[in-house]
Amino acid sequence: MVKKVLGIESSCDETSMAILETADDGVRAMVLANKIASQMDMQKAFGGVIPEIAAREHLTIISSVYKDTLQSAGVEPAEIDLIAVTAGPGLIGALLVGNAFARGLALRLQKPLIGVDHVHAHIYGALLNKPDPSFPALALVVSGGHTHLYEMASPTEFKLLRLSLDDACGESFDKVARLLGLSYPGGPVIDRMATKGDISRFKMPLVDLPGGFSYSGLKTHMLNTVRALGDKIQDDAVRNDLCAAFQKEAIEQILRPLERILGSAHPYKSIIIAGGVAANSYFRRRIQEFSSLELRLPEMTYCADNGAMIGALGARMYALEGIAAEFRPYSRYRG
Ligand code: KG4
Ligand code: ZN
Repeated sequence: MVKKVLGIESSCDETSMAILETADDGVRAMVLANKIASQMDMQKAFGGVIPEIAAREHLTIISSVYKDTLQSAGVEPAEIDLIAVTAGPGLIGALLVGNAFARGLALRLQKPLIGVDHVHAHIYGALLNKPDPSFPALALVVSGGHTHLYEMASPTEFKLLRLSLDDACGESFDKVARLLGLSYPGGPVIDRMATKGDISRFKMPLVDLPGGFSYSGLKTHMLNTVRALGDKIQDDAVRNDLCAAFQKEAIEQILRPLERILGSAHPYKSIIIAGGVAANSYFRRRIQEFSSLELRLPEMTYCADNGAMIGALGARMYALEGIAAEFRPYSRYRG
């Protein structure tokens, strides 16, 4: 039975690895070590992630992240039973670095290698070190690249109910922050400034499209508001108020369809919230007031990209399917 799993993540600007140990059922996994080397400070200078630079940085740092992770877990390479790596979606150059490393290691150690979907793995970020929630569950992955609402009949079934028709929610935080002259990534900065702002001073368009989530209208509204404000945008109080109003609408938009589902007869027993935006304080507060269903929220370290969530989903898939099928890295979400 698989006991120790190495999870490898390199889809964007974090090189992260984790060692997990599966419980006696071989299914649920506890994190022994989770190391995250972020390029955020370097990418800040460019106001976003430059794919070429991200790939090169992964290459520079990946071996030392591996050594650090094993050392911190107190595990020798030969003790690893399974390697799980993000197969996609993500920046293809960045993914290739993680995948080449994982493949080389699997060959050298003669261990199985499993490819994991990054968006699905985010859901496992909310389940780490906790008992499984009851199924069927509703799961929201709200990140820099995706805004997905899933129905999960079981821990490895991901039926996509709704997604963003344009920008992802986290991406809109990043773009609006840039518009306001704030640093990258925008989510944490807007979250902080919003706590000091007046939520009702600026009116935002209420977005509730039948076909999916949408952030382009909200973004354009912010652009027009900033232009109309002219020099007043330099005033911290004005920016705080804008952040509060934008953040509220960006999050409320996600909650509206959820409210409709839960407002009528439904089969769901739990809600799982995951992805980088799951770190948002307004989101975390609102979702806790929202329903009496069992709720799983990720610990703050497991909101953003991390190797532990990759290892946890990889271990689960391997335990259920018992094989590590052939796979290739992919840049776009495949479902
Ligand atoms: O899941 P993640 O690390 O990367 C992707 O897979 O995309 O998510 C990163 C995103 C960024 O857009 C960042 O601005 C956003 O998560 N984020 C937040 C907060 N912390 C990170 N958004 C809103 N509020 C936050 N506190
Ligand atoms: Zn992610």
